[in-house]
Amino acid sequence: MTSKLIAPSILAADFANLQRDIEMVNTSEADWFHIDIMDGVFVPNISFGMPVLQAIAKHAKKTIDVHLMIVDPDRYIKTFADLGSDVLTVHYEACTHLHRTLQAIKSEGMKAGVALNPHTNVNVLEDTINDIDLVCIMSVNPGFGGQSFIENTYNKVSQLKELITRKGASTIIEIDGGVTNKNAKALVDVGADVLVAGSYVFKSNNQTETVKGLKALANS
Ligand code: DX5
Ligand code: ZN
Repeated sequence: MTSKLIAPSILAADFANLQRDIEMVNTSEADWFHIDIMDGVFVPNISFGMPVLQAIAKHAKKTIDVHLMIVDPDRYIKTFADLGSDVLTVHYEACTHLHRTLQAIKSEGMKAGVALNPHTNVNVLEDTINDIDLVCIMSVNPGFGGQSFIENTYNKVSQLKELITRKGASTIIEIDGGVTNKNAKALVDVGADVLVAGSYVFKSNNQTETVKGLKALANS
């Protein structure tokens, strides 16, 4: 992938002004909407569900990248396709039959993503990497925005990049958690293609300019 992508995470948006924040993403240099769905079981937090995603999708004019932090995600693959998801990412740790899950996601016309928790080694994807469109490396423990970036992420991205190259896969690498202007360039340098950023974008004074700065750094 030549252009590196920025995906603001709506989890950090102002839910009382959701349409305004969606329009900010629409008109900014951001590439994707990153949508975090949490069930309070796989992660110790509940975010929002289908009616909110439906409202977001009604206004979003860019790719909708849904990150499912839920147990047994197969139950909802068709639902998320119907809601307008373009990329559907499930957690490796939440899938008993990952290969089957990936096929089900693709059969609904979506790109298939797999997220790895910080404790999960990238080598678990050795036998599925050619079937995966996107790997999301969690650079924080999933469940909450605004956490500190885990430095071991750089090693994991390098290892994943090596695996993708060795297998001749076309998988892209997304980083999720604690992304800021301090680590964006270094992440891209080790192989990241998509940077998710929640707090860094939405808690900033000028969100549009923050997105622009991140995009420039990622492509510098
Ligand atoms: C964490 C979520 C992230 C989160 C990132 O479980 O998957 O997408 O919104 O937020 P920041 O960028 O604030 O770490
Ligand atoms: Zn996420």
